[in-house]
Amino acid sequence: MNTTKTPTRRFTADEKRLINCNQVDVNQLMPLKYNWAWEHYTNGCANHWMPTEVPMTKDIETWRSGQLSDAERHVIMRNLGFFSTAESLVGNNLVLAIFKHVTNAECRQYLLRQAFEEAVHSHTFLYVVDSLGLDEKEVFNMYHEVPTIARKDAFETALTREVLDPNFTTDTMQGAQAFLKNLIGYYLIMEGIFFYTGFVMVLSFHRRNLMTGIGEQFQYILRDETIHLNFGIDLINGIKAENPELWTAEFQQQMVQHVRDAVELELEYAADCLPTGVMGLNADLFRDYVQHIADRRLERIGLPIQYGSSNPFPWMSETMDLAKEKNFFETRVTEYQSAGSLSWD
Ligand SMILES: [Fe+2]
Ligand SMILES: [Fe+2]
Repeated sequence: MNTTKTPTRRFTADEKRLINCNQVDVNQLMPLKYNWAWEHYTNGCANHWMPTEVPMTKDIETWRSGQLSDAERHVIMRNLGFFSTAESLVGNNLVLAIFKHVTNAECRQYLLRQAFEEAVHSHTFLYVVDSLGLDEKEVFNMYHEVPTIARKDAFETALTREVLDPNFTTDTMQGAQAFLKNLIGYYLIMEGIFFYTGFVMVLSFHRRNLMTGIGEQFQYILRDETIHLNFGIDLINGIKAENPELWTAEFQQQMVQHVRDAVELELEYAADCLPTGVMGLNADLFRDYVQHIADRRLERIGLPIQYGSSNPFPWMSETMDLAKEKNFFETRVTEYQSAGSLSWD
């Protein structure tokens, strides 16, 4: 990795590379080559929010009043347990495994922004656990103690471990493929599949006007995660385009299998969250949903769709579209958003 080098001549943007760049060092942001990375960065900045800006009074009331059934409380608890440590796994993988091997300044600029957002997301779970007076040890130990969460996380941590090996390099075909697998495992699978049943479950409460503080926080997280996923897809497709030799038929098959395995893990997780149906949600609907989003993720990196299932929660796409509109969010975040997007001409 070249962080500094003696300049012998000025570079052109065209010489920049996403991995294994030998021509341009990572301190030279301009001229930009990967405009998509810069756009994701400015979009992320325009969405700035903090969990503490969301009032939790109504949630505290609902949680303490006994208004929710045991099954409903179980759904909330499981999702707090999954997300509380998943955010941190994503943040650590970004900083320890991904950042070092992405040899491009504009992508690193985005990764720094994303890393901060993952810290904000972790902060959210601390704030929620604190506000509701939940057992901190119970929530933050679920990734060890709840098997369906532990299996999703073990699937991810194995990918980080591989890249952290002291002998790891993206200079070899095998190393570069392992790095691509890490990106697919975190952006496409963790942030693009493993997060989504949780989004549906928690936002279902919000739709019934229950636990709206947590619901609003999940809307902000979903909005951020949409950009994380889009950046990840652009990065994966960019590396593929620059290094087509990595994208062998065998590698493609392995990635499809990886996504299929992840879908099964996610279905076990959904069934574990919903042993009995609540709020019109049940494990069967989640089978269709998880398969549907897995297909969407696969096709975005040029892999064949596997399931052909339809989306049983069309309101989720509406939620995501609404999130792009300025006035959707009713708290101060809206002001940040407009201040960040002011035009002076
Ligand atoms: Fe996150
Ligand atoms: Fe994320």
